[in-house]
Amino acid sequence: MAKTFDIALESLGPQPTAVEKPAPLPLRGASEAPADAKSFYIETFGCQMNDHDTEKVEGLLLARGYQHVSTPAQASLVLYNTCSIREKAAQKVFSRIGDWKTLADGKIVGVLGCVAQQEGEGIFERAPWVSLVCGSASYTKLPDLLDQVEAGNHRVTGLSLDTDETFETELTRRDNRYRAYITIIEGCDYSCAYCVVPKTRGPERSRRSDAVLDEARRLADSGFTEIQLLGQTVNSYRDPSPRGMNFVELLRAIAADPGIQRVRFTTSHPNDFHQGIVDAIDEIPALCDHVHLPVQSGSTRILKAMRRTYTRDEYLEKVASIRAARRPISITSDIIVGFPGETEEDFQDTLSLLTASQYDGVYSFKYSPRPNTPALSMDDAIPEDEKSRRLAALMEHQRQIQMARNEALVGSSFEVHVDGHNPQKKVWGGRTSCNRLLNFTSPLDTLLGKYVSVRVTRAGPNGLFGEHAV
Ligand code: SAH
Ligand code: SF4
Ligand code: F3S
Repeated sequence: MAKTFDIALESLGPQPTAVEKPAPLPLRGASEAPADAKSFYIETFGCQMNDHDTEKVEGLLLARGYQHVSTPAQASLVLYNTCSIREKAAQKVFSRIGDWKTLADGKIVGVLGCVAQQEGEGIFERAPWVSLVCGSASYTKLPDLLDQVEAGNHRVTGLSLDTDETFETELTRRDNRYRAYITIIEGCDYSCAYCVVPKTRGPERSRRSDAVLDEARRLADSGFTEIQLLGQTVNSYRDPSPRGMNFVELLRAIAADPGIQRVRFTTSHPNDFHQGIVDAIDEIPALCDHVHLPVQSGSTRILKAMRRTYTRDEYLEKVASIRAARRPISITSDIIVGFPGETEEDFQDTLSLLTASQYDGVYSFKYSPRPNTPALSMDDAIPEDEKSRRLAALMEHQRQIQMARNEALVGSSFEVHVDGHNPQKKVWGGRTSCNRLLNFTSPLDTLLGKYVSVRVTRAGPNGLFGEHAV
C-alpha cells in the first residue's frame, strides 16, 4: 500500500498550487524538553499503516511522560519506524542509525516496523548501539519492551509474528485534525512473489467490529468527520467477534454514524473486491467514491508469476463493475514494471490495461528484489536501465490519461473537505470525495475542516483548480 494519491501526484509532476497543511494537533508538552526530561523523536517511513502505527506509539510515549521533540539530537529516545517494501526504503534506515554510532549521554535508539522485523537481531550486529528492535506484530508488547529499555537493558526485541492480537490503544495522538485513520485489519495472508509484507507484518488479523465502531464513535465525538480505514487487504476484513460482520456491513455501520461525513478505505485486493462494495458506495453518500485497486501488471502471464490470484480479464471485470455504478467512482492502482521475465509484450499489456482501466491515479514502481521473497530466485532479471525506460513510458502514458480525465471535469462542481490554506496566495486546498486534490479561491476566510462546494475552472494531470461558489 502506498501513501496513495500523494505519491502519484508528486511522481507525475507538480501540483497546480501548493497549499500549506495546517499544523498538526499540538503535542502534549513543550517541544523543547528540559535536559533531565524523557523526550522522544520518531521518524516514519513507508505506508499509511506505518504513519498510523507511529501515531499510536506517540500516544503511548506521551502517556509515559515523554515529551516530543522535533530533532533527533534533542531526544533521549530516538525511534525509526521503518519500511522494507523496496531496497531504497530499507537503505535509508541504515544511514539514519549510522548517525548515532558515537552515542553520547545515554541516548536510546530503537528500530520499529518492517526493517526491524525483517533484519531482527541482525540490526544489533550491524549497529550495536541500537537498543530496541521491534516489528509491528509485536507492538502490543511495546509498553513492556519500553520498561526494559528504560531500565537500561540493551538488545531488547519484539520479533514474534505469532500473534492473534491487533495493536489497539486509546492513546493515539492524531496527526490530522479532521481525518483519522483506523486500522481494521493487520498483516497479510496473500503471498505475492515480490512482497515482504506477509513476513514483516505477519498473518492477517482483523479487529473486532465493536472495537472499530467504538473508535469511530469516539473520533466523531471529538470532531473528526472523515475516517480512513486501513489494511494491506482492507476488504478481506472478517470480524472475529460473534457479531461476525463482513467488510460491507462494517462500512455501512461506520457510515451510519451521524457525525461522520466521509469514509475511505485502502488498500483493496482485487480478489476480495465484489459487487457488494460497489452497491454500498452507490447507496451511501458518506462512502467516498474512490477505490484503490492495485493491479500490479496488465499481463496475465506476469500476474501468475507474481502470484496475484487473478487474470487480466478478471481484473478488468471488476473495473467494469465499478464503472457501471451510478456514482462516478474513481479508481487508482499500483503497478510494478520490470518484474523478472517481463517481456516487451507483457509491458505493452500493462500500457493497454491502463488505457482500458482509465485510472485516476497510479503509483508505479520499478521491481526491487527483496530478501526472503520467492521472486528473488527467479531468472530473467530485467536490467535497471530497461526498468527505468518502462517506468518513464508508463508514467507518460498515465499522465495523458489523467490529463484528459481531469479536463473533462472543468465546469463541474465538487464537495471539497478543506484541509490546507496558503494565506499569501489566498488559496485553499482539499480533497474531493473521489480523492482528487482541488485547490481553490474563496471570498471566505475560515474554511479549514469545512465541506464546501467548489466549481472546477482549470485542470492539470495531478489535480484541479476552482472557485468556491458562496
Ligand atoms: N497490499 C497492497 C500493496 C502493498 S505494498 C496490495 O496488495 O495491493 C504497496 C505497493 O508497493 C504494491 O502494490 C506494489 O506495487 C509495490 N511493491 C511491493 N513490493 C515491491 C517490490 N519488491 N518492488 C517494487 N514494488 C513493490
Ligand atoms: Fe504484499 Fe500481496 Fe499482501 Fe499486498 S496482497 S501486502 S502485495 S503480499
Ligand atoms: Fe508499509 Fe513498507 Fe511495511 S509499505 S507494510 S511500511 S514494508
